[in-house]
Amino acid sequence: MGNDINGCSKIGYLILDGTQPSNYIQRSEKPIFLDNDCVFATGYLKGSSPLLILEKSIKCQQYQDCDVAVKVASTLGQIEATRWMQEIEAIKRLGYNEYIVSMLGWCIYKNSYCLAFEMATSDLLTYVRSLSVKDKSEIDLKHFVAYLWQICNAMSFIAACRMVHRDLAARNILLFGENKAKISDFGLCCDFDRDTLTYQASLTKRLPLKWLSIEALLERRFSEKSDIWSFGVLMYEMFSLGKEPYVSLQNNEIISFLSQGNRMEHFDDVPEEINEIMSSCWERELGERPNFDNLIIRFRSILETSTETYGYIK
Ligand SMILES: Nc1ncnc2c1ncn2[C@@H]1O[C@H](COP(=O)(O)OP(=O)(O)O)[C@@H](O)[C@H]1O
Ligand SMILES: [Mg+2]
Repeated sequence: MGNDINGCSKIGYLILDGTQPSNYIQRSEKPIFLDNDCVFATGYLKGSSPLLILEKSIKCQQYQDCDVAVKVASTLGQIEATRWMQEIEAIKRLGYNEYIVSMLGWCIYKNSYCLAFEMATSDLLTYVRSLSVKDKSEIDLKHFVAYLWQICNAMSFIAACRMVHRDLAARNILLFGENKAKISDFGLCCDFDRDTLTYQASLTKRLPLKWLSIEALLERRFSEKSDIWSFGVLMYEMFSLGKEPYVSLQNNEIISFLSQGNRMEHFDDVPEEINEIMSSCWERELGERPNFDNLIIRFRSILETSTETYGYIK
C-alpha cells in the first residue's frame, strides 16, 4: 500500500455506516505489530472521527486530528471477510465506553479491511513483562488492582450488552499512559443466546486454548462466566509478571489437567485476597464463580482500604 489511504474516499468510505468521507488516514510503512492475519500500522486521522457523530460526549472530543493505529487484514477470503465484519459489528454494537478501545473508523481499501483505532502506548502483557527486571518490592500492586477494576467495568458493560468477548487476555488489554487500561481485540466477540445466556461456538474458529474455561473446552459453551475464567488467567499473567499460563503443559494436555480438578498455582508473595479472587474465577461450577459486577465491588474495596505500600510480600 502507498503511504496514504485517502483514496478510499473514491472507492466508498464506509466509516461507521455512511458518514461523510471528510477525513482520511495517512499510513506510515513501519508496522507496530504483524502476524498471519493482520498488520498494525501507525496513521493519522485528519479532522474528526465519525464516532463523534454517534457519541457526543466530551470525552470523545479528543478523537480528531490524532494518531491512530490502523489494523489491516493480510488475507481476505470469504471466511476472513465474515470474521472482519463480525469484529466491526461487535465494536459498533458496543459503542463508546471509557474502558474499551474506540474504533475511529473503518474502510475497505484495495480489497482489504482497514480499521482505525485510538493509539495506545503499550499492551498489558508487554508492560508487566517490562517490570520483571525490577525488585518486586518496588512494584505498586494498587496500580495493578486499578487496572483490574477498569477491565471489570468494561467487561460488565460487555455482558450487559449480552455479548461475550472470548479473548480476554493480557495481550488484548491496551494501556493509555500510566493510568488507563482498555479492552481491545473484538475478533472473537459475539452475542449470546437471550434465553440461556450462553453461546454455542462452531468448531471453525481458532480459540485461545489456555485462556478458555473448562465448559468452553469441553462443550464450546461461552458466557459471562467463561469470560470470568479468562479474567482469572489474565490475573495470573499480571501477578506473575507475564508468565505463560500452564507453561509446562501442551495445549492437548490442558483438558485432562483441568478435568482432574487441577488449577494453576497460587502465588506465595501476593496478598491472599488476590489468590482467592483468581481461583474463584476457575470454579468448575459456573454459579460459584463471581460475575464482573461482584469483582468491581471487590476491587473497589481493595482500592479504598489498602495503603500505598500494597505490594508483593517478601
Ligand atoms: N490501538 C492500538 N494501539 C497500539 N497498538 C495496538 C493497538 N491495537 C493493537 N495493538 C498491538 O497489536 C497487537 C495485536 O492487536 P489485536 O487487535 O489484538 O490483533 P489480533 O487479532 O491479531 O490479536 C496488540 O497486542 C498490541 O500490541
Ligand atoms: Mg489480540
